[in-house]
Amino acid sequence: MNVFIILTVLWLNVVDAVNHSCKDIYLANPSSANGTYTIYNRKNQSYKVYCEFHDKFGYTYLSKNTAVEVNINDLFTTRAHVKVRHLKKNGVQAETVMENIRNYPTQPLGIFYNQHTGYPASVNAANLAPYLYLGFLPISLANHVNPQGYRASGQDFHFVNCDRNPNNYFVFYFNPNHKQPVGYVNSCCETALMHSWITVAHNLPTSSNMPDEFYFDYEIHFGGCGGYAFIHHHNDINGAALGVRFEQMDPCKSSPCHNGGTCYSENETQFICECPDGFMGDTCNVKGDHGNTGIIG
Ligand SMILES: *[C@@H]1O[C@H](CO)[C@@H](O)[C@H](O)[C@H]1NC(C)=O
Ligand SMILES: *[C@@H]1O[C@H](CO)[C@@H](O)[C@H](O)[C@H]1NC(C)=O
Ligand SMILES: *[C@@H]1O[C@H](CO)[C@@H](O)[C@H](O)[C@H]1NC(C)=O
Ligand SMILES: *[C@@H]1O[C@H](CO)[C@@H](O)[C@H](O)[C@H]1NC(C)=O
Repeated sequence: MNVFIILTVLWLNVVDAVNHSCKDIYLANPSSANGTYTIYNRKNQSYKVYCEFHDKFGYTYLSKNTAVEVNINDLFTTRAHVKVRHLKKNGVQAETVMENIRNYPTQPLGIFYNQHTGYPASVNAANLAPYLYLGFLPISLANHVNPQGYRASGQDFHFVNCDRNPNNYFVFYFNPNHKQPVGYVNSCCETALMHSWITVAHNLPTSSNMPDEFYFDYEIHFGGCGGYAFIHHHNDINGAALGVRFEQMDPCKSSPCHNGGTCYSENETQFICECPDGFMGDTCNVKGDHGNTGIIG
């Protein structure tokens, strides 16, 4: 009896791999529902995330109550865009897709946990850490006098950097000790740029609402004359959340089947080519009498 139990546990461990991300959860079960899940960091410490699943991609939001180190690079596969949600005081939740402005079409976003490599430190980094950092233009591109800003819901919102001050960020603070922000939070500089992302966001149906613990205090800073805001400047907002995007890799994307073969993906690495009459082989690259199906791992 004892032997049987031990064997069963070992077998489950092999089959039931640890989830490090919403993507792992999706790959384990592509029909998983949106919602709160437990995942593990690289030290095997658990924390909560909200996973929003779509067909072959999704978004991950962190809980503000996360008390362990986050390996954020495990949570996204693209830095081309993110979603930013906000929670209104009346309970309505809204989201906008954010990316770099069209002047910088190939510049990826900076997405960091408690660091800001290539970007300036945020005003309250030391005070309210840990934090999630969303950088638009890095210092090397932002320290110029030219139009900069962000893109939200498909619209560019610009300012001209007047003095090469390279701030270009949204920062989301875990603020575990509920401290007050420091800096010029009470003096300046709420501009239109500081809230256009709120104005253009789309309200979500209540069925898509995340629990309140996924909404953070935030700080926004652009320029050199772009503006500065802390959540306190937005009277009707209770928090904001950064959703990072994962995509399931598609081995058919590189068109591996030759001679008009049709590609079907099995999973992230394996595909099957269905060959037309006259061709055969794993990738339909061999002349043959009849159609044939090959599998590539
Ligand atoms: C990983 O996620 C899948 C899908 O929700 C789940 O079935 C599985 O039990 C999870 N693995 C662990 C070790 O929790
Ligand atoms: C998850 O929520 C989004 C909206 O936030 C919705 O478009 C999507 O279909 C939902 N996914 C599932 C699996 O219900
Ligand atoms: C990770 O933690 C879980 C639950 O705390 C435990 O069951 C599992 O054995 C651990 N895995 C590793 C690889 O340490
Ligand atoms: C992909 O699917 C094949 C066949 O089902 C399987 O042998 C392989 O281990 C899978 N690879 C991954 C990464 O899941």
